[in-house]
Amino acid sequence: MGSNLEERFQTLHEIVRAARANLAPGAWDYLVGGAETETTLKRNRLALDSLAFRPRVLRDVSRLDCTTTFLGRPLRIPVVLAPIGSIETFTEGGGATAARAAAEFGVAQMLSSVCAPGLEAVATAADTFRLFQLYVRGDDAFVDDHVRRAVDHGYAAVCLTVDTAVYSRRERDLARRFVKPWRVRATGHDFQAALSWDQVKRFKDAHDVPLILKGIATAEDAALACAHGVDVVYVSNHGGRQLDHGRGTLDVLPEVVAAVAGRARIIVDGGVLRGTDVVKALARGADLVGVGRLECLGLAAAGAPGLVRALELLEAEIRVCLGLLGVDRLGALDTSYLHAAPPVTPPHATSAFPLLDLDGY
Ligand code: FNR
Repeated sequence: MGSNLEERFQTLHEIVRAARANLAPGAWDYLVGGAETETTLKRNRLALDSLAFRPRVLRDVSRLDCTTTFLGRPLRIPVVLAPIGSIETFTEGGGATAARAAAEFGVAQMLSSVCAPGLEAVATAADTFRLFQLYVRGDDAFVDDHVRRAVDHGYAAVCLTVDTAVYSRRERDLARRFVKPWRVRATGHDFQAALSWDQVKRFKDAHDVPLILKGIATAEDAALACAHGVDVVYVSNHGGRQLDHGRGTLDVLPEVVAAVAGRARIIVDGGVLRGTDVVKALARGADLVGVGRLECLGLAAAGAPGLVRALELLEAEIRVCLGLLGVDRLGALDTSYLHAAPPVTPPHATSAFPLLDLDGY
């Protein structure tokens, strides 16, 4: 990108440190925190850290290709910016700022329905490969209205988040009495709680746009999603922010990949902060990897350029990882490159950055 951020941020942990410095304590805890004991959050990292690589050598990796395609669109790296409610907490311009970074770098953006400035303004902010994530806060007409508006504004797919039937207890936020803007205004939580597979069927009958279900955490639900014609199964535990004591998503992925059996594309997120994390997820069978906190950290560090720089560093790490694995393109990754191994670091929100020295993270 040629900005002075290349000099200022030479590693991802420098971006995290800048984000921490820029965010008020309440916003920082809203970002890094999870539900209750934060066990699920830690298990996301633990699952990633419990995989070692089995590198192959003496293969020509002089031309490395980190690109992919998703829903027919090219991506510079296999990454989607995960939907973030109240993303305006982390950067001026909220979702529009993230859209500009996504467009400049070349990743997909999934926009949350509960953030500013709204789907229309975000669509006009940048020519991004964009997807729309909807919390159902109303009846069928509410859903249909949002789907129509999203399609009209160039969103390539609609995502229903299904791991949020009820809002969890996030103790960092409770302890700080932190109330995010959209939580105050939001009404209609009963509709999300009442969601069932009937609504998935109705959605598929009523709309042509690809449907993503985000928050699938078992083979059973992945199979049901496929049986309902869902186009993309998004394995996620909401970054450990919803059900506590869940499994790490990289541990969930193999059973979902087997259950889906090629009938849908697969996204996974949860704890992904390094290039090696992205490569592990792809080797385990994901097509695309979501980054939530990393997206916000880049934005909080330096707005759109900060997020672009974070993605550049992620790309650099992916390239190094592929080259040293003896793999010249993402499509060649499979489980033969992975091996179970004991983690070497106790997992926590910033444990992916051992050089980072944050007070109480
Ligand atoms: C989220 N997440 C989320 N998910 C969703 O479907 N709709 C939303 O509005 C939000 N809001 C949100 C806010 C914040 C501050 C965070 C950190 C996360 C979950 C998000 O999309 C994603 O699943 C996780 O963030 C992935 O885990 P990592 O990458 O943050 O570890």
